[in-house]
Order: sequence, then structure tokens, then C-alpha cells
Amino acid sequence: MRTIEWIETSRTVRLIDQRKLPNQLEYLTILNAEEMVRAIQTMAIRGAPALGVAGAFGLVLEAQWARGKRVNDLRRHLHKAADLLSSSRPTAVNLAWGVNRVLALVDDNSIDEPELVERLLAESQLMAEEDIVTNLRMAEFGASLINDGDTIVHHCNTGSLAAVDWGTALGAIRYAFEHGKKIHLLIDETRPRFQGARLTAWECELYGIPFDVIPDNAAGYFIHHGDVNKVMFGADRVAANGDVVNKVGTYMLSLAAFTDDVPVYPVFPFSTLDISLTDGSKIPIEERPAEEVTAVSYQGETVYTMGTSVRNPAFDLTPNRLITAWVMDQGIIYPPFSQNLSRCNYNNAPNR
Ligand code: MRU
Repeated sequence: MRTIEWIETSRTVRLIDQRKLPNQLEYLTILNAEEMVRAIQTMAIRGAPALGVAGAFGLVLEAQWARGKRVNDLRRHLHKAADLLSSSRPTAVNLAWGVNRVLALVDDNSIDEPELVERLLAESQLMAEEDIVTNLRMAEFGASLINDGDTIVHHCNTGSLAAVDWGTALGAIRYAFEHGKKIHLLIDETRPRFQGARLTAWECELYGIPFDVIPDNAAGYFIHHGDVNKVMFGADRVAANGDVVNKVGTYMLSLAAFTDDVPVYPVFPFSTLDISLTDGSKIPIEERPAEEVTAVSYQGETVYTMGTSVRNPAFDLTPNRLITAWVMDQGIIYPPFSQNLSRCNYNNAPNR
């Protein structure tokens, strides 16, 4: 399954419209950066690695759309588009990383205007292919931590839908399952947008992985009851000291797991690591519209009265002390994270 891809015949980008799942598998065709920004903000496409590739493709589309401008005007235009794309969702560092990787070619004066679009396209397609290779590498490392018979709590959606293919934590779980390990997943439904109940459950049906969806606030019950062997999730931005920012609810889940000695594994690629940040306190946390919370109904009846004041942070920070190990494409990294980071290849790091 390809969540996002370049369609050469129409020279557009096609992505799975994740707002429609699990009821309909529909694709969205994107023509320019403005449409990509809208798709990102409304979460037709979402998940940190997928956002990196979406940002890069967004800039390619814009370069194609704006063809014919004088080269300096085109460069200025693409810088503006890059700013809009990078800031369309602030937390996942992969988005700005993907945009900046392509933007570096825009700033390369040795590339003439006629070949610019093709060069940007080639780089974006390379990123999409690399994403799959990276995810498979993480999957292999992550699967090595999973034992036959494990029950794993999983938060949000970290599967193919959150990347180009395979994904992060769910990729590792799927890899272990497809290599013969019996696994049972407890999928947090992941309020308020239900990425777990809508997307992860849909993917698990597809792969045949046995699961139960649980309300987010039931995870502690299963953990404390001794039913859970591991907690696995992805990450949207990780600071150099190992603080992890991920979908809201990850902190409470990790606290419960840590308290009951259940290992906690974030699975993420190198592009999610923000080595410019010594700790996670400066990571911007996106607050999303109140309607995402209040739109829920129970037995056909609205839950909220009109005008109820709500807060809707989309992410939270899990401090490094609660994390057992990072699962990355470079391998499994244990604390102290800052020191052990030296095993990573800094050349591919964002914000280097
Ligand atoms: O708001 P979303 O759905 O984009 O949030 C996604 C997550 O938090 C994922 O867990 C994360 O991107 C990491 S895994 C690919």
C-alpha cells in the first residue's frame, strides 16, 4: 500500500484520503502547494514520515505550477511555498526536514530553471523510496524486541498510512507477525481523531494481526493487570536527550507502563530526531480546533452542549526517563540517549 505517490501520467501527487477511512478507501489528487497544505492541515495525510514526503512533493508541484517565471522569481516563490508547507503542522519535524531537503536544490545556482522541476522530483521520489527502506530497517530491529506471544499496547496510527509504506511501530509489529510471532495488539482508540480505532484497526484487519481496540483510558487497567508485555508507539519529534513528543496520550500511557515495569519503545527514523534541541521543552505542541473534541456523539446524541470550552493539544511530551529504548533505523539505542547518539549517522540528521 502506498500512502502517497507521484503519478507520472498526470504529473500530480496521489494520496490516500485518511479522513474517509475506514469506511471508504478514496484517493485525493494534489496539484500544487496550496492543496498540499490543505491536505496536511485537514489531515487527509498525516503521520510524521508521511508528512516529510508530502512536504517535499508539495514543493515539486509548486515548482511545476509556477513554471515560466524568471529563475529568481521562481526561487522566491518556492521559498514562500516552502514556508507555508513547513508551518502547516508545527510538531512533526519530518515535515520541515522533507521540505528543506528539496529546498536545498532550489537554492543551488548550478541548476537551471528548465531542469529544476525534474531535479526536485527526483529528490522527492528518492525520499519516498528511502522512507520504505528506512522503515523496513526499523521494522527488523523493532521485531527483534518482540517475543512470540506478546501483547502490545499501541498508540495512534504508526503503520503504512503514517509513512509511504510500512510505517514505524506498527511496521515492527507487522514484521514480527509476518515472521511467525504470535502477537495480540491492544489498540488505543486515540481520541479525539481516533487514529487507532479508524486507521490502525483498519490496517491490522488488512494484515491479519489479531487485536482489540480499547478506550485510551483503559490502557492502564490492562497494564496494571499484567496483561501487557510492551508498549510501542511512533514519534513526531525527539530531542537529543531522548524526550519524545508523540500523539497526545503517549505520556499517560508511558507513565502507566513505567510504573508497572512494562518496556516502552518509541520507533522512529533518524529524520524524527531534532538534535538542535537538548531537551523536549522547546518542541512546539500543535493545538487543534475544539470541534475535533466536541464532534463526538454517543448513541446518536451529541455529547457536548453548545459553546463548551475545550482544549485540544494534539501531542504531548514523554520525558526520557520513561523510555526503555529508541528503535531507529540505526539500531536499538538505550539510555543515556545523548551519549549513545554518537552511534548514529549525523549526516542525515534534520537541523544539522
Ligand atoms: O496527528 P497525527 O495523526 O499526524 O499524529 C501522528 C502520530 O502522532 C504518530 O504516532 C507519529 O506521527 C509517529 S508514527 C509514524
